[in-house]
Amino acid sequence: MSHGYFQHGGVTFPGLLYSPRSLEAAREFPVEDDDVFNVTYQKSGTVWMLEILSLIRQDGDPRWCRSVPNWDRGPWLETLLGLRRARANARPRIISSHLPVHMFPKAFFGSKAKVIYTVRDPKDVLVSLFHFARIFRPYRDPGSLGDFMDKFLQGDVPFGSWFQHVRGWLQLRGRENFFWISYEELQQDLRGSVQRLCSFLCHPLSPAALDAVVTNASFAAMSHNPMSNFSLSPGFILDRSRGPFLRKGISGDWRNHLSPEQSRRFDLVYRERMEGLGVSFPWDPP
Ligand code: A3P
Repeated sequence: MSHGYFQHGGVTFPGLLYSPRSLEAAREFPVEDDDVFNVTYQKSGTVWMLEILSLIRQDGDPRWCRSVPNWDRGPWLETLLGLRRARANARPRIISSHLPVHMFPKAFFGSKAKVIYTVRDPKDVLVSLFHFARIFRPYRDPGSLGDFMDKFLQGDVPFGSWFQHVRGWLQLRGRENFFWISYEELQQDLRGSVQRLCSFLCHPLSPAALDAVVTNASFAAMSHNPMSNFSLSPGFILDRSRGPFLRKGISGDWRNHLSPEQSRRFDLVYRERMEGLGVSFPWDPP
């Protein structure tokens, strides 16, 4: 197992899948106007959104999702393999990324390409990442949840600070080619969320196609689809004997993991780091 991490652009990356060269190549990536980028801080619903976007692209027809692994349908830009795949894929392309905005392809900012940014309650991101770090071999073992929470709050985890990521990306709101949505909204109203996505993508769907997207992007459907559940991942990347990638797929699981004291500590840092952003999230107190 590799535990080698390196720093790039002030952010931590694991050496097993990423390199300064892959990150520099991502920064220089030649963006096309019809590219659709699926951007998240990790564990915020990346593969869920990728499935939704794949299904929208196919007008609800699940055959593409059932025959091509998700990492080829919407490759991760910041890995060398993903970059190669993104270059080779037919347009219009779906491209995934966890990069913070300051490391994103420069060409995007002068293009008409679209970014869809999905955010999730950071306490659920923390819990999901804690479990993920135990099965994803490029990552260090997270140790105890308490210790891992401290690292997460300090941004001392791969892909850096959740706060910086979200604040950085949400500066783009208001731009015509930027759309943001929360994991919680997808949970609460998947059909309505897909409709909003379709309108952003200028890709209208019939009611039947909309239904097909919703059905095929469900947690159950994705969990049973080997092209979407990472069961095809090589063992040196994912240790599935320790748990599935598609773990629970619910909102609020943090309540089963964080103590009241840990939750309070989290809230204190959250309030301080998110102050002045001027955005209300589904998880914010009323
Ligand atoms: P949990 O670990 O809380 O279950 P990412 O794709 O960014 O790595 O995010 C993974 C998280 O999204 C996991 O959360 C996973 O279960 C959840 N997820 C993936 N597909 C989903 C779906 N169709 N419905 C709900 N949650 C989903």
